[in-house]
Amino acid sequence: MSLIEVKNLAVAFNGETIIENISFVINSGEYIALIGANGSGKSTLAKAISDLEAYQGEIFINDGLITKHNANLIRNQVGIVFQNPDNQFVGVTVENDIAFGLENKNTPRDQMIKTINDILTELGMSSLKDKEPQHLSGGQKQKVAIASILVMKPNLIIFDEATSMLDEKSKNEIHAAIKRIRQHRPELSIIFITHNLEELTSEITRVIYLDNKTIKFDGTKDEVYQQLLLLEPKKVRIPLLDEIRLSHHLQHQEAEGLIEELWESL
Ligand SMILES: Nc1ncnc2c1ncn2[C@@H]1O[C@H](COP(=O)(O)OP(=O)(O)OP(=O)(O)O)[C@@H](O)[C@H]1O
Ligand SMILES: [Mg+2]
Repeated sequence: MSLIEVKNLAVAFNGETIIENISFVINSGEYIALIGANGSGKSTLAKAISDLEAYQGEIFINDGLITKHNANLIRNQVGIVFQNPDNQFVGVTVENDIAFGLENKNTPRDQMIKTINDILTELGMSSLKDKEPQHLSGGQKQKVAIASILVMKPNLIIFDEATSMLDEKSKNEIHAAIKRIRQHRPELSIIFITHNLEELTSEITRVIYLDNKTIKFDGTKDEVYQQLLLLEPKKVRIPLLDEIRLSHHLQHQEAEGLIEELWESL
C-alpha cells in the first residue's frame, strides 16, 4: 500500500534549484537506501518529506494531499534520526528523553512507563534507563534517538547519515536494531541515507540514486548497482564484492570465494 507519494517535488534555496522533478512512491514496509554524492540533495529531500520545509510540487500521505492545514498528518507519521546524536536530546535521562513525545500526546502515566520499558527491552537498553544521554556511546545515543521516535508509532523513519559518525561495532549494532525493528513492525517504512555503500545490507529492498538534482536510478539494489557500473563507473564506487558478483554473474558465495582466491594469490 502506498504510504507517501511525491509528485514533481522541487526545492530551491535563494532562487537556486537544489532538487527538481522528484517523483516516487514509498510503500508500507519498504526499506529504501537513498544514495548520491555529497551535496546531491539527499538531506534536502528528507527534510521536504519530514518537516515539509518549503517545497514545490505535491506530497500525499495515505493518498491524501498534504496542505498547510493538515501538515501535522505527515509530521506525526515521519520521524528522522540525524548524523550527530548530541543534537537531538531533550531529556536529562534516557527515560525522560523517550517520554518527551509521549508526554506531549498526554499519554497516561502507566501506559507511558510500559511503552518506555518495552522499547528499551526491544532495543537491548534496559540498563541505560536512568543514564544521562550525553554520557552514552555514539551507538547507544542513536538507539535512544530511535527509541524516542518509535514510541510515537511513525509509519516512516528516515536515517540521515545516522551511522556515519559511528565506529564499525556501533554501525553494526544500529543495523541489527533496524533489522529487529522491521521484524516487529512489517508495516514500517525506512529510508536509510548514506554515502557509504558498504552499509547497504541485504535487508534493503530498494535503492534510490540522486544525481544532477533529481532521481537518476530507482530499483532493487542489484538493478541500481548494474546501472551504476554501466553508466557511472567513475562516479560511484560500489562495493567490490557486488562489483565482482554482478559483472561476472556470480552468486554471493561464489564472488566471496573468488575474492578469497585473489587475496591468496597475492
Ligand atoms: N539551508 C540551505 N540554504 C542554502 N543552501 C542549502 C541549504 N541546505 C542545503 N543547501 C545546499 O543544497 C545542496 C544539497 O544539500 P544537501 O545537504 O541536501 O545534500 P546531501 O546530499 O544531503 O549532502 P551530504 O552527503 O553532504 O549530506 C548543497 O549544495 C547545499 O549547499
Ligand atoms: Mg546530507
